[in-house]
Amino acid sequence: MVDAQMARGKIDGQGMHEQAYGVQPGTSVLERETMTSLEFYGIDAIHLKARKELLPGRLIVLEGTDGVGRTTQLRLLRPWLESSGYAVVDTEMTRSDLVGAGLKQAKEGHTLGPITLNLFYVTDFVDRFEQQILPALRAGFIVLTDRYIYSLMARALVRGADDRWIRSIYGLALKPDAVFYLKIGLNDLVPRVLQSGGFDYWESGMDMRLGDDLYESFINYQKSLLAQFDKMTDHYHFQVIDATQPVDRIIELLKRRILPHLPQG
Ligand SMILES: Nc1ncnc2c1ncn2[C@@H]1O[C@H](COP(=O)(O)OP(=O)(O)OP(=O)(O)O)[C@@H](O)[C@H]1O
Ligand SMILES: [Mg+2]
Repeated sequence: MVDAQMARGKIDGQGMHEQAYGVQPGTSVLERETMTSLEFYGIDAIHLKARKELLPGRLIVLEGTDGVGRTTQLRLLRPWLESSGYAVVDTEMTRSDLVGAGLKQAKEGHTLGPITLNLFYVTDFVDRFEQQILPALRAGFIVLTDRYIYSLMARALVRGADDRWIRSIYGLALKPDAVFYLKIGLNDLVPRVLQSGGFDYWESGMDMRLGDDLYESFINYQKSLLAQFDKMTDHYHFQVIDATQPVDRIIELLKRRILPHLPQG
């Protein structure tokens, strides 16, 4: 009886969300409550489909270049989701138990070659995918990820990695429920990065020495990265958000766009 009332409550509330947030009219509660799809960009490398895995969680990605404001938004999204009753897991690059520390250490030495650097990042991603992201999705968590495969691919491609190789490696990634791309131009990015501590060696692509100094290299490196993100936008269905807007405006946009993806709508 209580369940029936709750179900009715959800159905009653559904029309409001459809109007307010643009959910496809006629989408049933059951359809909306389906799992994160078992869709991959390339191969299903660990046979999740064959095992008929169920992933009742949601995978939400925040992408964008260095210093654009991803952490700022994720710090606001997590408590919002938790206060709505969702269990949340967050993850970001170099946080794998297996190689996170080693990757950071190797980068400090500035001695990694481009192929090793890519493989190190791939290992970090796959370890987090298998050990953090998939278990959380299986357990019904909302997974918030600070960057996903797109930043990794962009970084690899600007370093001259073969496009087919990179796409095939990262093809084992699950397609997220939503990818939000915080988009910014160089003119707005530079003061933001300066304000938050200045240019760092890797964020400036200094391993490739794209200029006489850190500033020049930063400009050239970030220009190339932004071009890669632009190229990926349609193919990977990025939902583009103008990152030059104030923090509170961006968070409102994100919440509004995330809401229809949540199990309770
Ligand atoms: N919408 C915004 N408008 C103005 N400044 C912002 C905005 N969002 C974030 N900032 C500021 O920009 C700086 C970088 O923000 P933040 O650390 O969130 O970026 P990030 O994308 O996580 O960076 P990183 O790539 O280093 O992890 C901080 O000083 C932050 O206060
Ligand atoms: Mg950050």
